[in-house]
This record gives sequence, structure tokens and C-alpha cells, in this order.
Amino acid sequence: MSTGKVDALLGIVFGDEGKGKVVDVFTPQYDVVARFAGGPNAGHTIIFEGKKFVLRSIPSGIFDEGKLNIIGNGCVIAPDLFMAEAQELESAGYDLKSRLHISRRAHLILPTHRVLDRAYEAAKGKNKVGTTGKGIGPTYSDKASRTGLRVGDIQQNFQEKYETLKARHEQILRDLHYTDYDITDEEALWMRGIQYMSQFPITDTEIEINQALEEGKNVLAEGAQGTMLDIDHGTYPFVSSSNTCTGGVCTGLGVAPNRIGEVFGIFKAYSTRVGSGPFPVELFDEIGDKIREIGHEYGAVTGRNRRCGWIDLVALRYAIMINGVTQLIMMKSDVLDTFETIRACVAYEKNGQRTTTMPYDTEGWQAVYEDIPGWQTDLTQMTSQDQFPEAFQNYIKYLESALERPITIVSVGPDRAQTIEMN
Ligand code: IMP
Repeated sequence: MSTGKVDALLGIVFGDEGKGKVVDVFTPQYDVVARFAGGPNAGHTIIFEGKKFVLRSIPSGIFDEGKLNIIGNGCVIAPDLFMAEAQELESAGYDLKSRLHISRRAHLILPTHRVLDRAYEAAKGKNKVGTTGKGIGPTYSDKASRTGLRVGDIQQNFQEKYETLKARHEQILRDLHYTDYDITDEEALWMRGIQYMSQFPITDTEIEINQALEEGKNVLAEGAQGTMLDIDHGTYPFVSSSNTCTGGVCTGLGVAPNRIGEVFGIFKAYSTRVGSGPFPVELFDEIGDKIREIGHEYGAVTGRNRRCGWIDLVALRYAIMINGVTQLIMMKSDVLDTFETIRACVAYEKNGQRTTTMPYDTEGWQAVYEDIPGWQTDLTQMTSQDQFPEAFQNYIKYLESALERPITIVSVGPDRAQTIEMN
């Protein structure tokens, strides 16, 4: 932990690494927890006191009563979904309204953004991205086109701005001949969401964060999605629409690069991907099915089957470089407990060409593997590193040597308690 710094906690592959649980474990060390990118396309599952919560837009620090939570300017927010998520937490007894600040500069996801998301996907046919359908791409497009609606607009002539943007979307939908939709009920709920959101502090969060840093407070920037879904550095065009990497922390919260402290890179002991796009390590056999089943690899937002495969060291090395990762956190190690042999992708091959760095176009590459003996031991009851079997210790050492970074935390199950700090 750094003083007066922003530490970043980032998924460094395709998301779904289990960031929510780690943020929850880390929160006691921080004064502020902030989301800097993405929106309700994220689904951070947290099991807290035996109860399961899925957070989409709200930072995972919300369970810790003393902390300030921030939805930063780099985020996009759907008022209706936000209301549902926040009310569930309120009915579970958490006081949110004083502890959750929303940036005026965050962009609003309109119901018509979601229709546009569906329309663009339909128009792409077999090349569709496989989005979460939450309107993420169209909202960030409006942001970049300087036509978007921001949370701060709620306080200024809102209805007129809303109608103007909605009319613009309707025109695009007519041009696309995508007219078979009805947002009447959705829009009514969305407007209720706007009213509800107005009860929260809508603030200049970049100023609040910088003031906190000046006072020597510590901020945890909670990532969403993963580096391979980053709009610049991911497997474009099969990516999300924000910068999910450390650079996104600076722009998405309004903090300077020299404020960044530790960068924690989270990955799973194997790989998964939701939606379309290249995935050289994908397993189409019973091993992939077994990983999915044991790891419960089904999308937290859409319920879709996640594509599963062995760990990808090519992607991990690239993500470590892009993010400046200082420490690694390995999640879901226990999912591999029963495998006799574990494989790690060390290179990609295509047409007799081999690469160990991330190619521009990851389509059509085959994974080249190294085999590592499995540990075939139940890790889930272990409470400290010295209980780990030798084969698992060796897997950790193998990864540390290949990735040139220390693995400082290993997770062996979904519960908070199954999070083991390494010496
Ligand atoms: P979008 O972010 O909904 O536009 O979806 C773009 C791509 O990112 C799709 O392949 C989604 O499946 C993927 N994606 C978006 N959010 C997440 C996430 O939180 N975890 C994993 N994949 C995601």
C-alpha cells in the first residue's frame, strides 16, 4: 500500500477474474474505492457473510461502512440499473447515499443506447462482438462524438437534452431499419432511476480524489473488464469501449500518472473469455467443459457460457507491460485441483511462424503449450502458503519466473477467507 497514492487493481486478461472479492479483501487498507471505467457490463460477484451480491456499477468498497466510494468520470451509468443495484444493497441494510459519490462527468446510458447496441450487433451479423447489450459502445461513441449526456446534465435543463439525444438515436435506428422496439416501460423506469440517482452526491469527483491524495489518503482504483478488452490494447474490434488499463485510471478518475502506486494484476489459474473474438487457448473438448463446470464459468451479467482454456502467458506478459503491473494475484487456483497435468501457453503459432509477443491480429493463431504436473490436492481448506503441496508451489514458481513478477496473493475459493497472502 502506498501513502497518498492510487493503487490500481486490474483484471489483466478478459475480465471475470474475481476482482470484486479482492477489492473487498483490500478495502480496509484504503480510504476511497473508485471505479474508473466501464459500466453495468461488469458484474463483480462478492460473497459477503454468506450472501451473494453482484455489483455492476457500484464499487466493491461499498460493504465497508467507513469508506468513500466513487463512480468516476470515465464510467458510464444506466440510472435504472443503478437504482436496482443500489436498492438491493439498501434493503440489505447498507447505507449508500452518504458514501457513494457519482462524477458529474460520467456519461449516462440511455434506453436508446441499449437499442443501438442491439441494432449494431444485428447489423454486424456473424462478426458481432457479442456485447453485454448494456449500451456501452453507443454511449462511449456519443462521448467521443461530443453528443453524450452526462450525469451533471441531470441538474441542467435535462428533459430537453434527453429528448434531443433520443431523437438523434431514433433517426439512426430508422436509418438502420431497426424499428421493431418499444422502450415505453424501460424509459419510465429509467426516468425513475434519474430521480433516484439525484438523491446521491453528484460531485466533481476528480477534485475530491485529488484532495484526498493531498491529505495522504489512499485510493484503490477498481478495474472492470480486462486488458484484452481494452479499446486500444485489447483484441480490437472484439473489445469493450473504454480503457481498462492503468492509463484509464488516470483519465477515468482525473489523477496524474505520478500518483499511481502499486498496480495489482489479477488473473485466473486458467483463461476464460465471454463473447466473440480470438482466443488461441480456447479448449473445445471435455477439459474446457470441466473447467467451466468446476469454475462456474457463466457470465455474471448475461449468464452466457464463458469460453475456457489454459493460462495464456503471451497475453499475461503483454498485459503486465501495458499496465506496469507490480504484483500479481492468482484467482481460482482450486478449479485446477483435480487435473493430472496443467498446461500453459508460452507462444502462438501461425503458418509456421512463432511469436511470444502479442500479435496485432490474434485471429488464427494456435497456442504452443508447456506441461506442468498438476497437484491433485484439495486447496480449498488451506489457510497458509506452507500448506500448499509441492506441485502447486512449483506452478506458482513457474508462473513467477515466466512473468517476472511476484504472485503475492493466491485465491483458493470464493470466500473472503480463502485468500492467501504469500510471503
Ligand atoms: P460490451 O462491453 O458490452 O460492449 O461488450 C464488449 C465485449 O466485452 C464482449 O465480448 C463482452 O462479452 C465483453 N465484456 C464486457 N464486460 C465484460 C466483463 O465484465 N467481463 C467479461 N467480459 C466482458
